[in-house]
Amino acid sequence: MTSASCGILTVSDSCFSKEKEDVAGKELEKAVTEAFPDYRIVFKAIVPDDRQEIINMLNKWVSEQCNLVVTTGGTGFSPRDVTPEATRSVIEREAPGIAYAMISKSLQVTPMAMLSRAVCGIKDKSIIINLPGSTKGALECFSFIRGCIPHAIALVT
Ligand code: MTE
Repeated sequence: MTSASCGILTVSDSCFSKEKEDVAGKELEKAVTEAFPDYRIVFKAIVPDDRQEIINMLNKWVSEQCNLVVTTGGTGFSPRDVTPEATRSVIEREAPGIAYAMISKSLQVTPMAMLSRAVCGIKDKSIIINLPGSTKGALECFSFIRGCIPHAIALVT
């Protein structure tokens, strides 16, 4: 296989409207590059907290055979937090172990970890992983699960 392709999707009304800077997306890009220097970040986008917009972007990247899609934001309890529902509409098979690992490791850092409803799963050759929206939460969760990513990609491709 050629080097794995990655997409980083920031889901945030305030980043989409440019009211806030997309720090989590930028820091995640750095973290993915640092963890996997041979992977290519081929997609980056910001969408609002809108179920259909999230689904459309995820489907587009999946159709282009993006190996790893990480999302940041929209996993919590507020009424606009719909990233897990959108992700569940796109994936064919859920990967609950990845979500479980994030929550169980995160609970050692903050009890607020139980407020993330993150979904992880597989569609075609793509693995989609929801991360929290805060930069701290996104980076912590990525660090907890990154070890499984190369083997996960090898298994689905
Ligand atoms: N997980 C880790 N590791 N570190 C964090 O700081 N923040 C939590 C949780 N998961 C956090 C975390 C908080 S405060 C919330 S509300 C949920 O993720 C959901 O965040 P989101 O709605 O921005 O996706």
